Amino acid sequence: MTIPNASPANALQLKSLLGTEFLKKEQIQILISTALAFKDRYEKGQSIPPTLSGKTAFMLFFEASTRTRSSFELATQRLGGNSIVLTKGGSSTEKGETLLDTARNIEAMRPDILILRHPSAGSPFLLDQALNLPLVNAGDGFHEHPTQALLDLMTVFEGRKQIRGTRVLIVGDIAHSRVARSNIYALKTMGAEVSVCGPPTLLPPKVEKMGVKVFYELDKAVKDQDVVMMLRIQFERFSHGQTPSQGEYSRFYGLNQRVLKLCQPEVLIMHPGPVNRGVELATDVADSSRSVILNQVSNGVMLRMSVLHLLSGGEPFSWKDAIQ
Ligand code: CP
Repeated sequence: MTIPNASPANALQLKSLLGTEFLKKEQIQILISTALAFKDRYEKGQSIPPTLSGKTAFMLFFEASTRTRSSFELATQRLGGNSIVLTKGGSSTEKGETLLDTARNIEAMRPDILILRHPSAGSPFLLDQALNLPLVNAGDGFHEHPTQALLDLMTVFEGRKQIRGTRVLIVGDIAHSRVARSNIYALKTMGAEVSVCGPPTLLPPKVEKMGVKVFYELDKAVKDQDVVMMLRIQFERFSHGQTPSQGEYSRFYGLNQRVLKLCQPEVLIMHPGPVNRGVELATDVADSSRSVILNQVSNGVMLRMSVLHLLSGGEPFSWKDAIQ
C-alpha cells in the first residue's frame, strides 16, 4: 500500500494529515517536539511564529465536538490565522448537497487549510484526492482521529519521559473507537507495548493482528500498565439492539477506586473525552491525582498548532529531550 499524500513540500513531507496508520516515527517525533516547544514558549510568554498570518482554516464539523473544534480554533488564532466553522445544521447538506460538492465549493472560496470531522469513515481520504488543499482529519466515523492520538502520545511522553517500551492499556469500546485505532498505530510505531481490554463484542475481529495483547478481564489487564486509557462507549455508532447495559458494562469494565488500587502507583489515567462519569470512569478516579485528562486537553491545542504550522510549511522546532 502506498503512503497517502507523500509530498516533499514541508518538513513532514505530507500534503495532509489523514491518519496515523502511515505516519513514520520521524514524522511523529517532529509533530510532538514542535508541540512541546510551542507549549514551552507559550507558558514562558515567548513569541509563537505567526505561520497562519493572513491565512484561513476552514473547519467542516459534521459531528458534535467540544475539544477538537475549540482547540483547532484556538490553535489557528495562536498562529495568527482566522477560522470559519461550518456545521451540518444550517448548511446546504440539509438540502441534499453532497459532501464532495460542499468541499469543492469551500475550496473555491480559497481557504488555506481544511479541517474535517465527519461520521463517514474514509471521507477525508475521498476529499483529499479531490482537493488541492491541505486537509486535517479531525475524526472520521470509527476510522481515525490522528490529532487525538498525537496529543495522547505527547501526554504519555510528558508523563513517562519515554514512549518506547511504555505499557499502555486501552479499555472499552475498541471496535467503534477511532481514538483507539489511531493510538494503536502511533504507539506501535513509537515502540510502545499496547494492550486492549473490553468485552468480546466491543473488540474488533482479529484485533491481535494490530500487534496488541488482548485482555477480557480488567482486573488482570491493569496490572503492570504504565498508562490506562479509558474510552467512552459510542452509543451513537451502535446498530439497533446492540447497545450493552451501562450498569453491567460499568461493573466489569469501569475504572473505579477498587480497580485503581490494582494499578501501579505511578499509573497515568487518560481519557479522550467526553467522559461518561460513573460508566467507564468513576468521578473520584477521573478527578484523582493519577488523571492526566485535562493535560490531554491542554496539549491538544499545542499539538494542533504543531500540525497546522508544519502542514503550512513552518519549520520544525526541536525539543531538549529526544522523542523516543
Ligand atoms: N476527544 C474528542 O474528540 O473530543 P470532542 O468530540 O469533544 O472533540
